[in-house]
Amino acid sequence: MSKEFEPRMLGIICNWCCYGGADLCGVSRFQYPPFIRLVRVMCSAKADLSYVLRAFSKGLDAVFIGGCHLNDCHYVTNGNFDALAMVNICRKVLQHIGIDPMRLRLEWVSAGEGIRFANIMNEYGGQIKELGPLGEPEGLDRKELLFRLEAAAKIVPYVRLVQMERLRVTERTEEAYNTFFASEEFDRLFNETIVEKLEMSRIVTLLGQRPFSTSEMSERLNMSASDVSRHVKASSRHGLIRYDANHGCYALA
Ligand code: FES
Repeated sequence: MSKEFEPRMLGIICNWCCYGGADLCGVSRFQYPPFIRLVRVMCSAKADLSYVLRAFSKGLDAVFIGGCHLNDCHYVTNGNFDALAMVNICRKVLQHIGIDPMRLRLEWVSAGEGIRFANIMNEYGGQIKELGPLGEPEGLDRKELLFRLEAAAKIVPYVRLVQMERLRVTERTEEAYNTFFASEEFDRLFNETIVEKLEMSRIVTLLGQRPFSTSEMSERLNMSASDVSRHVKASSRHGLIRYDANHGCYALA
């Protein structure tokens, strides 16, 4: 009989509330799956896209982020709203690169909610167990998965900038955030900025392996010839790649 799949999951939780909830959960002897390993950060705002991508590239199957309830963040900046924005953007990035966005979850847990923490961990652990190992239900082998994560990781600084400049929600309320991140406006801005950069990054990452012609890139990346040509032009303009006339292909600059 094959061994039952046991996921590897990372929890990034804030020191002041969610960690307190996890602690209370332990003291109260509530059970939750041992395959969820917790890392304590000072605020959920510290959980960044780069951490999530790194966790997946290291082979983890899911990432949980836990913070104080909205408006209860212990910092004047109300950092959990930043975590909320980051998770919405990150889940969209994951979806775009073919990873099930369910593999990233955000929850608010107070220091007095030990049982809530245990319930969330049990529920999420069960969902990921059912979903299966990272890449398997997505139909991605390890090599392709790492390629896509590497391309996404390269644009993290750009995503941070876009989050601050173009995807900023001015009103710090849960309703305003939920409305914005479910809107067509968010989809449009995401496609215009992050998707464009991500596609360029896939080309640059591919050319990091060896020179490719545009038709080879189109086939390898499953990208239309016109899109390849547009992204190649933009990447050349930015000085990232160059045309090798001798071999009729593109290479890293
Ligand atoms: Fe807990 Fe900011 S201190 S979310």
